[in-house]
Amino acid sequence: MFEHLQPLPADPILNLMVQYRQDTNPNKVDLGVGVYKDEAGNTPIMAAVTEAEKIILATETTKSYIGPAGAEGFNHHVSRLLLGNQHSVLSDQRLAIAQTPGGCGALRMAAEFVAKCRSDVTVWVSTPTWANHIPLLQGAGLTIAEYPYFDKDTKGVQFDAMMDMLSKQTKAGDIVLLHGCCHNPSGADLSREQWDAVAALCVEKGLMPFVDIAYQGLGDGLGEDAYGLRKLADTVPEMLIASSCSKNFGLYRERTGAVMVLAASAEQAKISGSLLFSTIRGHYSMPPAHGAAIVETILSNEKLTQMWDTELTEMRQRILQLRHALADQIAAAGCEQSFAFIPEQKGMFSFLGISKEQVARLRDEYSIYMVDSSRVNIAGLNSSNLDYVAQSLTNVLKG
Ligand code: LMR
Repeated sequence: MFEHLQPLPADPILNLMVQYRQDTNPNKVDLGVGVYKDEAGNTPIMAAVTEAEKIILATETTKSYIGPAGAEGFNHHVSRLLLGNQHSVLSDQRLAIAQTPGGCGALRMAAEFVAKCRSDVTVWVSTPTWANHIPLLQGAGLTIAEYPYFDKDTKGVQFDAMMDMLSKQTKAGDIVLLHGCCHNPSGADLSREQWDAVAALCVEKGLMPFVDIAYQGLGDGLGEDAYGLRKLADTVPEMLIASSCSKNFGLYRERTGAVMVLAASAEQAKISGSLLFSTIRGHYSMPPAHGAAIVETILSNEKLTQMWDTELTEMRQRILQLRHALADQIAAAGCEQSFAFIPEQKGMFSFLGISKEQVARLRDEYSIYMVDSSRVNIAGLNSSNLDYVAQSLTNVLKG
């Protein structure tokens, strides 16, 4: 059965972790996979997470099954973190939610759910989008189309082109996948006015927004980063959300996320929930418990929530400082090209805007690792490697 199989190409992001680990150069720099790193280059366990784990260890009484929707307490707190405590979607009971194995689990379960609702929809994704979006959505059998998003010249959003495409090429019932904040891979986010215009377009054209929010708190702040998602939830009758706790709680390997279906009425939310939970049961039965228990423990305890928020704020501010430092350091290295756009962008990622060959040279000659598209994880920089990265990039750009 297996003799005809051919090897598939390695994942463009995850393979960088392997290559980086194998590199013996003491100066190597990892700007590849999107994990937060501190000044020492480590991805620490957040102090609030460690505290929560102590509480869980002391109080957990069973490892018995939970169910396809996961932990009720986690779902309660995460829905409020995203939508805000007072959102009418919550009071009107228009929400079906399930804890999932990470943001990927949420994306895939949302896609499987959509495929069961309607087989003829197209999901519109930004050009470019996160490398795993298309495989996750296509894997559920959905048709994918792309809308223009990142403008390589201005380093911002091609908003007019995006709106033009979405207003002219879509049909009612189509789905628009939007990055809630900290667009991955470009770091270029919609402004508040642009979110408002997207929400109005969705209503006008009968499009359903699908918000993937994996970096809440790492752009401008927890509430600020949820502006677009909340605006859409205020405006449209139906919506999907995939959220992740990998980055903002540092729970990467614990696989902790949530999928949400916002329906037009409480009754439709209930029915949607039954379909969503049965979809989950047919895939992985139910999500792993530990990461969600950590998040629930933090968000249900005022002191731990405060501790977590403080740590998250430090992470966000450090990323912003690194954005400024990188642009300044490249200029100081004598580079002719300006990288002043980097501090304007949000979250972990930006494109350097260099060629694939230049990315390869940085990897092969300097042991600096980034995705072939020239996406860099800004959080992989620190005061020990910043000069080296800026100088190496300048050397490569000089030819
Ligand atoms: C990334 O974009 O680097 C992260 O979201 C990790 C991943 O799974 O690709």
